[in-house]
Amino acid sequence: MNPRLERLHEYPFERLARLTAAVRPPSGLTPIAMSIGEPRHAPPGIVLDALRASLHRLDTYPTTIGLPQLRAACAAWVQRRFRLPEGSVDPATQVLPVNGTREALFAFVQAAIDDRRDPIVAMPNPFYQIYEGAALLAGARPCLLDTRAANGYLPDLEAVPEHIWRDCQVLFLCSPGNPTGKVLPRELLLRALELAEQHDFIIAADECYTDIYLDERAPPPGLLEVCRASGRDRFERCIVFHSLSKRSSVPGLRSGFVCGDPRIVARFLLYRTYHGGAMPVPTQLASVAAWEDDAHAALNRRLYQDKFERVLPILAPVLPVEKPDGAFYLWTDVRGDDERFTRELFAAQAITVLPGSYLARAGAAGNPGAGRVRISLVPTAETCVEAAQRIRDFIQRDRA
Ligand SMILES: Cc1ncc(COP(=O)(O)O)c(C=O)c1O
Repeated sequence: MNPRLERLHEYPFERLARLTAAVRPPSGLTPIAMSIGEPRHAPPGIVLDALRASLHRLDTYPTTIGLPQLRAACAAWVQRRFRLPEGSVDPATQVLPVNGTREALFAFVQAAIDDRRDPIVAMPNPFYQIYEGAALLAGARPCLLDTRAANGYLPDLEAVPEHIWRDCQVLFLCSPGNPTGKVLPRELLLRALELAEQHDFIIAADECYTDIYLDERAPPPGLLEVCRASGRDRFERCIVFHSLSKRSSVPGLRSGFVCGDPRIVARFLLYRTYHGGAMPVPTQLASVAAWEDDAHAALNRRLYQDKFERVLPILAPVLPVEKPDGAFYLWTDVRGDDERFTRELFAAQAITVLPGSYLARAGAAGNPGAGRVRISLVPTAETCVEAAQRIRDFIQRDRA
């Protein structure tokens, strides 16, 4: 077997299962799972209808490049969402459907890395675990850019030494971030573009939470928007990852797309032709319905906004909770050991959260996730409120 498999770390949810395996929470309490970032709102009717209406299309093999109408719907959405001029995204050469961003993030790194040159993949720390696994399996060295409260949860691009940028082949950015919920400002995206040009690396921008944000007047900017505003009309060295999982609350559909530099998209298409990750036609047609409609995404977003509105006042007296810019996580300091907090919370209140240290790696300055937990506001608003009350009780009573 591939010896690089030995370099993979245990996945956070396996660690969490081990951490809580021996714990028996009180039998009278209904367990509440807030560890996994799995959207649980009802899928939109338009998507289900389109899926049902096209099931007979299972009679054909799908193509890797996808249906023209899907690529057109994705390109039109990118233009609408990021206020790009009509016709600025070419569906034929700049868009490629993927089966959710998870597989695409992984596959992209395999296609992008030239392992003859001691490659580096830079990424935020904490990070979505696929970035690291993809880098390790591609034979690259991860370079971790800590995102801590002290630096406003932003990767400090200026702190990266010149020799690291020289060997960097891919820089991952995630906005809004998982787990921090931080939106990367335009200036930071612009600086990343300048560095990518200077050192000739690719920016892989994971924007799968871009439609989940808390301030309706401030939708998160996207990398392609900053490209365009700075005259980089061909999105040189950029690839962005979008998904319906969070936007449309259909994590089971497995539908997303990548968009960006046509030279990169063409090479990734070649890779995917062999990789075999074509999207089934009914999924493609259901995805067309989802990308063409913004109303359901706005309703979905409001459900998350409502949860933050209701949960934050309950937790604020007992935890230093901060309202994130986007995504649906609370990334909170628990003023102590995060594994212990997680285990004791489960034991006392049957609530599962994720220890922050599981989502990050320790560097010279320690593990930036240590002492924090990630709480996913994915259950119903009522259940989130109940969970917040139980967490408050846990801190005031059980932990006192
Ligand atoms: C930051 C981030 N990127 C990508 C994904 C993958 O999402 P999907 O494969 O459903 O598009 C997730 C899922 O939780 C995520 O949190």
